[in-house]
Amino acid sequence: MKTHIISDAVWCIPIDVDTTELFEGIWPIPEGVSLNTYLVQGEKTALIDLVQDRPEAPRQVETALASIGSDFGKVDYLILNHLEPDHTGWLREFREKNPHGEIIATAKGIQVVKSFYKIHTGLRAVKDGETLDLGKGKVLTFFEAPNIHWPETMFTWDSSSGTLFSCDAFGSFGALGGRLFDDDFNETELKFFEKETLRYYANIVASFSAFVERGIQKLSGLNIACIAPSHGMVWRRDVKRIIDRYLRYVSYSKGAGEREIAVIWGSMYGNTKKGLDAVIKGIESEKIPYSMHRVPNDNVSYILADAFKSAGLVLAAPTYEYAMFPPMAYAIDIFRRKHIHNKTVLYIGSWGWIGGAKKEYEAAVAGLKWNNLDPFDWIGTPTDQDLASLEARGRELAQALKA
Ligand code: FEO
Repeated sequence: MKTHIISDAVWCIPIDVDTTELFEGIWPIPEGVSLNTYLVQGEKTALIDLVQDRPEAPRQVETALASIGSDFGKVDYLILNHLEPDHTGWLREFREKNPHGEIIATAKGIQVVKSFYKIHTGLRAVKDGETLDLGKGKVLTFFEAPNIHWPETMFTWDSSSGTLFSCDAFGSFGALGGRLFDDDFNETELKFFEKETLRYYANIVASFSAFVERGIQKLSGLNIACIAPSHGMVWRRDVKRIIDRYLRYVSYSKGAGEREIAVIWGSMYGNTKKGLDAVIKGIESEKIPYSMHRVPNDNVSYILADAFKSAGLVLAAPTYEYAMFPPMAYAIDIFRRKHIHNKTVLYIGSWGWIGGAKKEYEAAVAGLKWNNLDPFDWIGTPTDQDLASLEARGRELAQALKA
């Protein structure tokens, strides 16, 4: 663990979390995740965002603070941009070590400090545009950024260094391994983080894309030299790269997905898979790229990322006990909850007795704003005629993305 200098009197303390536990209790993080805390020093000292209450994390922050001559007791202001416990889980223990510092958040954030952590004194609610003068020319400004990721979220802006402390926004999964800045990583590594930024966005932030757009618009007047999120790398060489990436994600939510297809499929005894192979043949004939995920084998976290970015989807799953194959029903429910809207979609699947999956599919996706091609289902093994129809459906889907 290392303390990184962002600029004169601004430090980052990134703590890598490597765990088999799931992020938010849902999302796998086999490559870890970083929890970034920041220290800004004027005459007064501000700490921005805390860490989760994992045994190793606060101790590492404490060691890092000591390396720059500080400690939790010297913090005058603890700024909490976002109250989700990955950034605040250690708050009660912080308060025990530092009973005098002021805890700063939006009014909604202060409510969470009270409800989650039962802390009722030494709190200051700040409004949009309010400033905090730390002395020695360090003035921090707070911008409300609701729903990026929770309703109480805000950004903190240090105009003297041009640093935006954005908490979840512009963050990613993936541990940093002792490095921090975008210029510390080669292009292959940046590509890895790009995938993990997309997965983080699709899993955590996608539902709130309209708020992300508003949040980015709010930043338009700032001369940002550095974007310092509380997960993942700090951007200073190419700030535009991460902002443009976020704007692209916003566009995905509006229907401007990449011209590619996410194929999500499940098959009990191979009949649906035979039909899917014909669909794939049709897609390949149109030279549209596609990704493949089998349910329940692949975790829905990765399925969400590919489904979110792709303009087209194929959902292939059989009828199971007169209804949808359960792992596909779960995937569709996650798409609904995560607002995977504005896609062009083909459903196919086999059935054995009287069907049922297609009917459930049509009801489940009714509110998803999808352009649904005619679903296609068949009994048992697909006939040659079925396969020809399925191949034509694959071509039709691919052609729809070219239109
Ligand atoms: Fe990193 Fe929404 O917490």
